[in-house]
Amino acid sequence: MKKLSMNGKICLITGANSGIGKFTALELAKLGSHVVMICRNYERGVKAQKEIIEQSKNPDIDLYIVDLASQSAIKNFAEDFKKKYDMLHILINNAGTITKTWTATEDGIERTFAVNHLGPFLITNLLLDFLNAGAPSRIITITSGMHSKDPISIDSIQSQENYSNLKAYSISKLANILFTYELSNRLLNSGIKTVTANVVHPGFTRTNFGKEGLSFLQKLGLTLIHPFMAVSLQKGAETPIFLAISPDVEGITGKYYVNKKIEQSAPNTYDQENQNLLWKISEKLTAIKTI
Ligand SMILES: NC(=O)c1ccc[n+]([C@@H]2O[C@H](COP(=O)([O-])OP(=O)(O)OC[C@H]3O[C@@H](n4cnc5c(N)ncnc54)[C@H](OP(=O)(O)O)[C@@H]3O)[C@@H](O)[C@H]2O)c1
Repeated sequence: MKKLSMNGKICLITGANSGIGKFTALELAKLGSHVVMICRNYERGVKAQKEIIEQSKNPDIDLYIVDLASQSAIKNFAEDFKKKYDMLHILINNAGTITKTWTATEDGIERTFAVNHLGPFLITNLLLDFLNAGAPSRIITITSGMHSKDPISIDSIQSQENYSNLKAYSISKLANILFTYELSNRLLNSGIKTVTANVVHPGFTRTNFGKEGLSFLQKLGLTLIHPFMAVSLQKGAETPIFLAISPDVEGITGKYYVNKKIEQSAPNTYDQENQNLLWKISEKLTAIKTI
């Protein structure tokens, strides 16, 4: 694969202590990037940071402990980031979760939606000036092929009735795609052509995903099919890494990638009214001004 020089490039990765995020962080560290890890748990974060430093021989690996379920934690992180760095080159919105029962965050929002969508929405918008300063820069958000095929609405996001962990997850993963398409349009309409935004389905990958948010039977099912159907971490992280380092994707924005290729996401994701509606809802729920 052709690679851009990543020496000294500042790459921020959420959920960098496990699975696809950790593998991606390690590979970017090996290429000489200055990696900024966001993890929610101190012990797991420090352990992963040490391993990445040892295995990559790259000391420039910073760690921030941020629970993406908390808007105040994200806002505090953005302030801390701005004090330390002048710019950002690569933002990988990778962290993801699934929540067994309907749970409200401290901000009163359904937890899966808050972590999987509002977290990336907030971080991206709060650091947009820094991505602009680092341009050409890239925003990469990890979705899933399990994204919902229905339109999104404030009711579908917050409904406690008939809550299903898988449905909430698929709605949050739809939000990742609608967000990316709307963001890329807004960047282009603002004349910002050098900050690109793309979204990735990594494929069914052997990770810790679902350890806390699946029922006993769902976990059992996952454990049984993992050896036959799930791909390796290396394969799962291949497309996020490709989007971060390949010169071939320079200037490409607003696309859905699977296996390093542009594919079509579900038809509902191309509904511009729905993209815009989600953006407006997200602005309201996070109380920030955006582009
Ligand atoms: N594995 C698959 O088959 C698959 C398929 C499609 C899409 N994906 C997507 O791929 C992404 C990475 O998942 P993975 O498979 O690598 O699973 P993973 O090993 O469980 O990694 C998920 C990461 O997100 C972090 N995270 C979860 N909740 C968080 C929060 N509130 N604040 C901050 N960080 C949080 C986790 O931290 P902890 O370790 O502390 O929990 C972990 O570092 C997710 O967005 C997932 O939806 C995965």
